[in-house]
Amino acid sequence: MIAGGSEGVGAEFAHQLARAGFNLVLIARKPDPLEQTAEACRRSGVEVRTLAVDLTSPDAMERTVAVTGDVEVGLLIYNAGANTCSEQFLDAGLADFQKVIDLNVGTMLAMVQHFGRPMRERRRGGILMVGSMAGYLGSERHTVYGGVKAFGRIFAESLWLELREYDVHVLELVLGVTRTPAMERVGLNFDVPGMRVADPADVAREGLEQLANGPVHVAGGNADDVARRNDPDRAKVVLRTHEFMQKLLGERGTR
Ligand SMILES: NC(=O)c1ccc[n+]([C@@H]2O[C@H](COP(=O)([O-])OP(=O)(O)OC[C@H]3O[C@@H](n4cnc5c(N)ncnc54)[C@H](OP(=O)(O)O)[C@@H]3O)[C@@H](O)[C@H]2O)c1
Repeated sequence: MIAGGSEGVGAEFAHQLARAGFNLVLIARKPDPLEQTAEACRRSGVEVRTLAVDLTSPDAMERTVAVTGDVEVGLLIYNAGANTCSEQFLDAGLADFQKVIDLNVGTMLAMVQHFGRPMRERRRGGILMVGSMAGYLGSERHTVYGGVKAFGRIFAESLWLELREYDVHVLELVLGVTRTPAMERVGLNFDVPGMRVADPADVAREGLEQLANGPVHVAGGNADDVARRNDPDRAKVVLRTHEFMQKLLGERGTR
Protein backbone atom coordinates (compact mmCIF):
# COMPACT_ATOMS: atom_id res chain seq x y z
CA MET A 1 0.00 0.00 0.00
CA ILE A 2 1.52 3.30 -1.06
CA ALA A 3 -0.25 6.46 0.04
CA GLY A 4 1.05 8.99 -2.46
CA GLY A 5 2.10 6.37 -4.99
CA SER A 6 1.61 8.04 -8.36
CA GLU A 7 4.54 10.40 -8.94
CA GLY A 8 8.15 10.99 -7.98
CA VAL A 9 9.38 9.06 -4.96
CA GLY A 10 5.98 7.38 -4.53
CA ALA A 11 5.97 6.11 -8.12
CA GLU A 12 9.53 4.83 -7.70
CA PHE A 13 8.51 2.83 -4.65
CA ALA A 14 5.71 1.38 -6.78
CA HIS A 15 7.95 0.48 -9.76
CA GLN A 16 10.63 -1.11 -7.58
CA LEU A 17 8.13 -3.14 -5.54
CA ALA A 18 6.29 -4.25 -8.70
CA ARG A 19 9.57 -5.47 -10.19
CA ALA A 20 10.13 -7.44 -6.97
CA GLY A 21 6.72 -9.10 -7.43
CA PHE A 22 4.56 -7.22 -4.89
CA ASN A 23 0.89 -6.61 -5.61
CA LEU A 24 0.09 -2.95 -4.97
CA VAL A 25 -2.58 -0.54 -3.83
CA LEU A 26 -1.75 3.00 -4.95
CA ILE A 27 -3.41 6.16 -3.65
CA ALA A 28 -3.17 9.73 -4.98
CA ARG A 29 -5.50 12.55 -6.03
CA LYS A 30 -4.88 13.00 -9.78
CA PRO A 31 -6.32 10.00 -11.63
CA ASP A 32 -4.11 10.26 -14.74
CA PRO A 33 -0.62 9.91 -13.22
CA LEU A 34 -2.09 7.34 -10.83
CA GLU A 35 -3.37 5.15 -13.69
CA GLN A 36 -0.14 5.61 -15.67
CA THR A 37 1.96 4.40 -12.76
CA ALA A 38 -0.46 1.53 -12.09
CA GLU A 39 -0.36 0.45 -15.73
CA ALA A 40 3.45 0.51 -15.81
CA CYS A 41 3.55 -1.62 -12.64
CA ARG A 42 1.06 -4.12 -14.08
CA ARG A 43 3.50 -4.74 -16.92
CA SER A 44 5.76 -6.38 -14.29
CA GLY A 45 3.01 -8.97 -13.86
CA VAL A 46 1.59 -7.83 -10.52
CA GLU A 47 -1.96 -6.88 -9.53
CA VAL A 48 -2.44 -3.14 -8.90
CA ARG A 49 -5.46 -1.41 -7.39
CA THR A 50 -5.82 2.36 -7.41
CA LEU A 51 -7.78 4.81 -5.33
CA ALA A 52 -8.04 8.44 -6.40
CA VAL A 53 -8.78 10.31 -3.20
CA ASP A 54 -7.56 13.38 -1.35
CA LEU A 55 -6.02 12.04 1.85
CA THR A 56 -7.18 15.16 3.71
CA SER A 57 -10.84 14.50 2.93
CA PRO A 58 -13.05 13.16 5.74
CA ASP A 59 -13.90 9.94 3.85
CA ALA A 60 -10.29 9.11 2.87
CA MET A 61 -9.86 6.38 5.47
CA GLU A 62 -13.27 4.84 4.82
CA ARG A 63 -12.51 4.61 1.10
CA THR A 64 -9.04 3.20 1.78
CA VAL A 65 -10.54 0.49 4.01
CA ALA A 66 -13.12 -0.33 1.32
CA VAL A 67 -10.47 -0.87 -1.35
CA THR A 68 -8.19 -3.00 0.86
CA GLY A 69 -10.70 -4.95 2.97
CA ASP A 70 -10.03 -8.29 1.27
CA VAL A 71 -6.22 -8.13 1.04
CA GLU A 72 -3.33 -8.55 3.47
CA VAL A 73 -1.33 -5.34 3.52
CA GLY A 74 2.20 -6.38 4.43
CA LEU A 75 3.92 -3.05 3.79
CA LEU A 76 2.51 0.42 4.29
CA ILE A 77 4.39 3.32 2.72
CA TYR A 78 3.10 6.74 3.71
CA ASN A 79 4.79 9.00 1.18
CA ALA A 80 2.11 11.65 0.58
CA GLY A 81 3.13 14.75 2.44
CA ALA A 82 3.45 18.33 1.46
CA ASN A 83 3.50 21.86 2.68
CA THR A 84 0.17 22.91 1.21
CA CYS A 85 0.21 26.20 3.13
CA SER A 86 3.48 28.09 2.80
CA GLU A 87 2.38 31.45 4.14
CA GLN A 88 3.98 32.97 7.21
CA PHE A 89 2.04 31.70 10.21
CA LEU A 90 0.12 34.90 11.00
CA ASP A 91 -0.88 35.43 7.37
CA ALA A 92 -3.05 32.37 6.68
CA GLY A 93 -6.10 30.86 8.27
CA LEU A 94 -5.88 27.99 10.72
CA ALA A 95 -8.03 25.88 8.40
CA ASP A 96 -5.28 26.03 5.76
CA PHE A 97 -2.62 24.93 8.24
CA GLN A 98 -4.98 22.22 9.50
CA LYS A 99 -4.79 20.57 6.06
CA VAL A 100 -1.02 20.26 6.46
CA ILE A 101 -1.63 18.53 9.79
CA ASP A 102 -4.37 16.31 8.36
CA LEU A 103 -2.20 15.07 5.49
CA ASN A 104 1.09 14.66 7.33
CA VAL A 105 -0.22 13.58 10.74
CA GLY A 106 -3.95 12.78 10.93
CA THR A 107 -4.38 10.42 8.01
CA MET A 108 -0.94 8.92 8.54
CA LEU A 109 -1.86 7.97 12.12
CA ALA A 110 -5.18 6.50 10.97
CA MET A 111 -3.46 4.37 8.33
CA VAL A 112 -0.69 3.20 10.62
CA GLN A 113 -3.21 2.12 13.21
CA HIS A 114 -5.51 0.42 10.70
CA PHE A 115 -2.79 -1.53 8.86
CA GLY A 116 -0.38 -1.85 11.80
CA ARG A 117 -2.72 -3.81 14.06
CA PRO A 118 -2.99 -6.85 11.76
CA MET A 119 0.78 -6.68 11.14
CA ARG A 120 1.40 -6.92 14.89
CA GLU A 121 -1.08 -9.81 15.05
CA ARG A 122 0.72 -11.62 12.22
CA ARG A 123 4.12 -10.71 13.71
CA ARG A 124 5.24 -9.59 10.26
CA GLY A 125 5.19 -6.41 8.22
CA GLY A 126 6.70 -3.04 7.48
CA ILE A 127 5.73 0.60 7.90
CA LEU A 128 7.78 3.21 6.03
CA MET A 129 6.97 6.90 6.50
CA VAL A 130 8.64 9.59 4.42
CA GLY A 131 10.00 12.50 6.43
CA SER A 132 12.00 15.61 5.73
CA MET A 133 15.14 17.39 6.84
CA ALA A 134 12.73 20.29 7.45
CA GLY A 135 11.72 18.36 10.57
CA TYR A 136 15.08 18.95 12.23
CA LEU A 137 14.88 22.72 12.64
CA GLY A 138 12.60 25.72 12.35
CA SER A 139 12.48 27.58 9.07
CA GLU A 140 10.46 30.41 7.60
CA ARG A 141 7.09 29.42 6.06
CA HIS A 142 7.61 25.96 7.60
CA THR A 143 6.12 26.65 11.03
CA VAL A 144 3.58 23.88 10.65
CA TYR A 145 5.24 21.74 7.94
CA GLY A 146 8.53 21.56 9.90
CA GLY A 147 6.53 20.72 13.01
CA VAL A 148 4.60 17.86 11.43
CA LYS A 149 7.79 16.39 9.99
CA ALA A 150 9.46 16.57 13.43
CA PHE A 151 6.40 14.83 14.85
CA GLY A 152 6.69 12.13 12.17
CA ARG A 153 10.20 11.26 13.24
CA ILE A 154 9.43 11.04 16.97
CA PHE A 155 6.34 9.01 16.12
CA ALA A 156 8.39 6.61 13.99
CA GLU A 157 11.05 6.19 16.67
CA SER A 158 8.43 5.43 19.30
CA LEU A 159 6.47 3.05 17.07
CA TRP A 160 9.70 1.27 16.13
CA LEU A 161 10.32 0.58 19.83
CA GLU A 162 6.78 -0.66 20.35
CA LEU A 163 6.76 -3.01 17.34
CA ARG A 164 10.32 -4.31 17.46
CA GLU A 165 9.45 -7.46 19.39
CA TYR A 166 6.72 -8.28 16.84
CA ASP A 167 9.05 -8.23 13.83
CA VAL A 168 7.18 -5.33 12.30
CA HIS A 169 9.78 -2.99 10.78
CA VAL A 170 9.27 0.76 11.16
CA LEU A 171 11.33 3.30 9.25
CA GLU A 172 11.24 7.07 8.87
CA LEU A 173 12.99 7.81 5.56
CA VAL A 174 14.28 11.37 5.81
CA LEU A 175 14.62 13.18 2.49
CA GLY A 176 16.56 16.27 1.60
CA VAL A 177 15.98 18.13 -1.66
CA THR A 178 14.71 15.58 -4.19
CA ARG A 179 13.93 16.25 -7.84
CA THR A 180 10.26 15.21 -7.93
CA PRO A 181 7.55 16.48 -10.30
CA ALA A 182 5.91 18.24 -7.36
CA MET A 183 9.13 20.18 -6.68
CA GLU A 184 9.64 20.91 -10.38
CA ARG A 185 6.13 22.41 -10.50
CA VAL A 186 6.88 24.59 -7.49
CA GLY A 187 9.96 25.85 -9.34
CA LEU A 188 12.65 25.09 -6.76
CA ASN A 189 16.10 26.33 -7.62
CA PHE A 190 17.97 23.02 -7.89
CA ASP A 191 21.19 24.81 -8.86
CA VAL A 192 22.22 26.31 -5.51
CA PRO A 193 26.01 25.80 -5.36
CA GLY A 194 27.01 22.97 -3.05
CA MET A 195 23.48 21.65 -2.65
CA ARG A 196 22.81 17.93 -2.91
CA VAL A 197 19.80 17.08 -5.09
CA ALA A 198 18.60 13.49 -4.84
CA ASP A 199 16.98 11.38 -7.50
CA PRO A 200 13.57 9.85 -6.60
CA ALA A 201 14.59 6.34 -7.71
CA ASP A 202 17.74 6.43 -5.55
CA VAL A 203 16.01 7.54 -2.35
CA ALA A 204 13.16 5.04 -2.85
CA ARG A 205 15.74 2.26 -3.27
CA GLU A 206 17.57 3.40 -0.13
CA GLY A 207 14.29 3.36 1.79
CA LEU A 208 13.42 -0.18 0.78
CA GLU A 209 16.97 -1.37 1.48
CA GLN A 210 16.97 0.23 4.94
CA LEU A 211 13.46 -0.84 5.99
CA ALA A 212 14.80 -3.32 8.53
CA ASN A 213 17.32 -0.80 9.91
CA GLY A 214 14.95 1.66 11.56
CA PRO A 215 13.91 3.79 13.16
CA VAL A 216 15.39 6.54 10.96
CA HIS A 217 17.43 6.63 7.77
CA VAL A 218 18.65 9.91 6.32
CA ALA A 219 18.74 9.41 2.54
CA GLY A 220 20.87 10.99 -0.16
CA GLY A 221 24.10 11.37 1.81
CA ASN A 222 22.65 14.07 4.08
CA ALA A 223 23.47 12.49 7.44
CA ASP A 224 26.23 15.01 8.24
CA ASP A 225 23.91 17.91 7.51
CA VAL A 226 21.29 16.41 9.83
CA ALA A 227 23.94 16.05 12.56
CA ARG A 228 24.76 19.76 12.21
CA ARG A 229 21.06 20.61 12.49
CA ASN A 230 21.04 19.03 15.97
CA ASP A 231 23.54 21.58 17.34
CA PRO A 232 22.15 22.92 20.67
CA ASP A 233 22.92 26.53 19.59
CA ARG A 234 19.53 26.81 17.89
CA ALA A 235 19.82 30.45 16.76
CA LYS A 236 23.08 29.66 14.95
CA VAL A 237 21.65 26.60 13.21
CA VAL A 238 18.31 28.16 12.31
CA LEU A 239 19.87 31.34 10.89
CA ARG A 240 22.56 29.49 8.92
CA THR A 241 20.02 27.17 7.32
CA HIS A 242 17.64 30.10 6.71
CA GLU A 243 20.21 31.66 4.35
CA PHE A 244 20.43 28.44 2.40
CA MET A 245 16.64 27.98 2.31
CA GLN A 246 16.19 31.47 0.85
CA LYS A 247 18.40 30.51 -2.07
CA LEU A 248 16.51 27.26 -2.57
CA LEU A 249 12.99 28.59 -2.22
CA GLY A 250 13.20 32.24 -3.13
CA GLU A 251 9.84 33.72 -2.22
CA ARG A 252 7.97 30.45 -2.74
CA GLY A 253 8.76 28.59 0.47
CA THR A 254 6.67 25.51 -0.19
CA ARG A 255 8.89 22.68 1.16
N1 LIG B 1 10.84 16.42 -2.92
C1 LIG B 1 11.54 16.95 -1.93
O1 LIG B 1 12.46 17.75 -2.14
C2 LIG B 1 11.24 16.53 -0.50
C3 LIG B 1 12.09 16.97 0.51
C4 LIG B 1 11.85 16.57 1.81
C5 LIG B 1 10.78 15.73 2.09
N2 LIG B 1 9.95 15.34 1.10
C6 LIG B 1 8.85 14.44 1.46
O2 LIG B 1 8.82 13.36 0.55
C7 LIG B 1 7.47 12.93 0.31
C8 LIG B 1 7.17 12.97 -1.19
O3 LIG B 1 7.30 14.30 -1.61
P1 LIG B 1 7.04 14.88 -3.07
O4 LIG B 1 5.73 15.59 -3.11
O5 LIG B 1 8.22 15.66 -3.48
O6 LIG B 1 7.01 13.61 -3.88
P2 LIG B 1 6.25 12.67 -4.80
O7 LIG B 1 6.52 11.34 -4.27
O8 LIG B 1 6.70 13.08 -6.16
O9 LIG B 1 4.64 13.03 -4.78
C9 LIG B 1 3.77 12.91 -3.72
C10 LIG B 1 2.71 11.83 -3.99
O10 LIG B 1 1.66 11.99 -3.03
C11 LIG B 1 0.42 12.29 -3.70
N3 LIG B 1 -0.29 13.24 -2.86
C12 LIG B 1 0.10 14.48 -2.49
N4 LIG B 1 -0.86 15.07 -1.75
C13 LIG B 1 -1.88 14.16 -1.63
C14 LIG B 1 -3.15 14.20 -1.01
N5 LIG B 1 -3.60 15.27 -0.35
N6 LIG B 1 -3.94 13.11 -1.12
C15 LIG B 1 -3.54 12.01 -1.81
N7 LIG B 1 -2.33 11.93 -2.40
C16 LIG B 1 -1.51 13.00 -2.33
C17 LIG B 1 0.84 12.82 -5.06
O11 LIG B 1 -0.16 12.64 -6.05
P3 LIG B 1 -1.33 13.76 -6.30
O12 LIG B 1 -0.64 15.09 -6.37
O13 LIG B 1 -1.98 13.34 -7.57
O14 LIG B 1 -2.25 13.63 -5.14
C18 LIG B 1 2.05 11.95 -5.35
O15 LIG B 1 1.68 10.67 -5.78
C19 LIG B 1 6.58 13.87 1.12
O16 LIG B 1 6.27 13.27 2.35
C20 LIG B 1 7.46 15.10 1.34
O17 LIG B 1 7.11 15.80 2.50
C21 LIG B 1 10.16 15.71 -0.20
